[in-house]
Amino acid sequence: MHNRFYVTTPIYYVNAEPHIGHLYTTVLADFLTRFYRLRGYDAFFLTGTDEHGDKIARAAAERGREPQEYADRISAVFRETWRDIGIGFDDFIRTSEPRHRRVVQAILQRVYDAGDIYFSSYGGHYCVGCERFYTEKEMVDGKCPDHDRPLEFVQEENYFFRMSKYQGWLAEHINTHPDFIRPERYRNEVLSILNNEVLEDLCISRPKTRLQWGIPLPFDERYVTYVWFDALINYISALGFPDDSRFKTYWPAAQHLIAKDIVKPHGIFWPTMLKAAGIEPYRNLNVHGYWKMEDAKMSKSLGNVVGPRDLIARFGNDQIRYFFLREMTFGLDAKFTEDAVINRINYDLANDLGNLVKRSFAMTQKYFAGRVPARSSADDAGRGELAALLKASADEYSAAVERCQFSVGLERLWEFVRALNRYIDERKPWALAKEPGSPALASVMRNLLESIHALAVLLAPVCVDGSAKILAGLGRGDTVVAIDTLFSLDCLADGQAITDPGILYPRIEREETPAVSPEKENKPVNTEQDGLLDIGDFAKVDIRVAKVLTAERIEGSDKLLELRVDSGLDERTIIAGIAQHYEPAYLVGKKILLVANLKPAVLFKRTSNGMLLAAKKDKKDAPVLIEVDDRIPVGARLS
Ligand code: MSP
Repeated sequence: MHNRFYVTTPIYYVNAEPHIGHLYTTVLADFLTRFYRLRGYDAFFLTGTDEHGDKIARAAAERGREPQEYADRISAVFRETWRDIGIGFDDFIRTSEPRHRRVVQAILQRVYDAGDIYFSSYGGHYCVGCERFYTEKEMVDGKCPDHDRPLEFVQEENYFFRMSKYQGWLAEHINTHPDFIRPERYRNEVLSILNNEVLEDLCISRPKTRLQWGIPLPFDERYVTYVWFDALINYISALGFPDDSRFKTYWPAAQHLIAKDIVKPHGIFWPTMLKAAGIEPYRNLNVHGYWKMEDAKMSKSLGNVVGPRDLIARFGNDQIRYFFLREMTFGLDAKFTEDAVINRINYDLANDLGNLVKRSFAMTQKYFAGRVPARSSADDAGRGELAALLKASADEYSAAVERCQFSVGLERLWEFVRALNRYIDERKPWALAKEPGSPALASVMRNLLESIHALAVLLAPVCVDGSAKILAGLGRGDTVVAIDTLFSLDCLADGQAITDPGILYPRIEREETPAVSPEKENKPVNTEQDGLLDIGDFAKVDIRVAKVLTAERIEGSDKLLELRVDSGLDERTIIAGIAQHYEPAYLVGKKILLVANLKPAVLFKRTSNGMLLAAKKDKKDAPVLIEVDDRIPVGARLS
């Protein structure tokens, strides 16, 4: 029998179009589905839209539409946005669908028949934005704390769910199932309500005289169902409760994903509703924090929203997925800034991962004519250590993801990515290549390609497009492997032709800065104490003598030149901002100073691997290239 995994997102209100917050939870669900499928689970992913209630009826009326017509339109926007950006949901539930209405009415009838729904009068302060009543204690200056809008006092006869009856049971369930609600802060939040307050019964109806847009109560046609009682049931109506095999298969493995705004309905209303209806509770409620944009809570009614499509068009799909998973500590709020996105892309994706792949493919091309070399039995170049490191990183990654600690998980995997970059620097394939038929060279390259293959498989749920490109480049496009087989570093075939996947994740320049940056030269060094550098800090900068092999102007730029240089370590490309001051022909054959260990930068679609040094006295002066005496050999380091 398969292991099962069932993941849900909240069903989103159709009073506004999708924004980054919705995208985040939906990307998480998509990631988890892919993650578990890769591990052989039978996984099911549900999302959808929440369409009933005052809020939607009012939004439709403001636009002069019927609620159904309006809901149809916005629901389609959600569904198509997710489809277009490759979110692989298995079902999309709408609360206005007959299949949902049937289940809501069946559950209401069940709970009513069991005596847990009763009729009574109630008065309270109501927020249309939250679709709920607020107690005096919760109100802030007579306003809703979330929406900053005055509450309406509403007095009417309604139906109530005897939620209070299940308070003790729920507290007990949470105590005996420590990860029922996670992370712990939200578990504690719910437990503190259960331990310190007396739960009030839940008002579950609205009179039709006030609201028609909802599911009629099966036992009283004068009322429709309160939107939360209706909406929460989507998680089982979509599975065809009670008879469909989908319900029997997936419900026992249910994992809900939500943000902290809707902990109470999910942590208290929903489990007690399930209990009253005689249904097992879900397995886990996973609660994340808020993305904060420019310090204002980014929410549906406060505005301040950015659309998922724009975001992905600007930065790329893998890039946003990676950022979401890596940047936010699950459970806590995180800042959403363009700077933070660009840093993750440039450092983690373009530099660490992108360069690893680029260097490894390029060297395989150069030293083995683009074919996977057979490993030499004379020297396996530390295969065992790499394999052990891979297994440790991959295991920690998986374990962290299973605990919803996505950021920790990716950090563990990146330890392996960075170890591979160090492996290249330490083993120096370019030096090994100087010995003809070096056994170590073949093994180093094979180890690298195998490791990259393993990474591409492990990362497929995050970097969907990049992983596919790497696997295709390795000639493994359609091959599905079990995770465990990766750890032997022996999945590829000797002699397999590989093709360069190209630049996977281009660096993003904040503004175009040429490799020689005159502004920077005149700024004081910013150190903590006295403006002086520690000798150790200086030693980190690898400045060496390089020889210019070729130089060309870059079409479309009047400032930049593309140079090929021999650094003594390798042959590399650098982009230099000296086109207005030097003719390319003058530079060829010159010895210059190269900063050799800079993070690569992409300028005009070319990657610059370093920077040449020039000097000037004043900002407005022309830079003068530092030319090196011919007696100093190429590769000599400044010290
Ligand atoms: N319709 C209800 C949910 C019913 S579920 C039975 C609802 N809808 S909503 O459109 O307001 O979506 C709220 C959810 O959107 C949050 O729980 C979270 O998943 C996501 N987010 C909305 N804003 C967010 C952030 N600023 N940051 C992260 N996620 C956010 O509530």
